[in-house]
Amino acid sequence: MTPGKQKNLIQKALAARRRAYAPYSRFRVGAALLTKEGRIFQGCNVENASYGLTLCAERTALGAAVAAGYRRFTALAVVAGGSSPPMPCGACRQALAEFCDGNFIILAAAATKPDQPVILTLQQLLPRAFRLPRLKQ
Ligand code: THU
Repeated sequence: MTPGKQKNLIQKALAARRRAYAPYSRFRVGAALLTKEGRIFQGCNVENASYGLTLCAERTALGAAVAAGYRRFTALAVVAGGSSPPMPCGACRQALAEFCDGNFIILAAAATKPDQPVILTLQQLLPRAFRLPRLKQ
């Protein structure tokens, strides 16, 4: 991935973050997911008064992409407030592992420092992901 493409993906995540619905935590998260075809799907966190129903930004982006017919991904950018880059939660790592191999790239950046992302692979974030054997037809 070129530095220009990384920067663009992070900018798309920042734009998505502006649409975050986080009245309870006030922790606004934005994500942008790049498909192998070059499309970008955005996501933001969507909280709920019943806290456990909250959707993470990464999984809203993933759901939008899959619902639009895209299942092959190259990279994800995730941004949030605070001074350090937001690392995707365990549930989001497992959700990404459903569709992405270990080389999938995660760019995590603090919203105030979008030019200083932490860059990791999914293999680094979730080694030995849970896999379910496919049922025989
Ligand atoms: N959140 C995300 O959007 N992504 C993560 O990977 C972890 C947490 C959101 C959920 C909730 O709205 C807020 O951050 C605080 O947990």
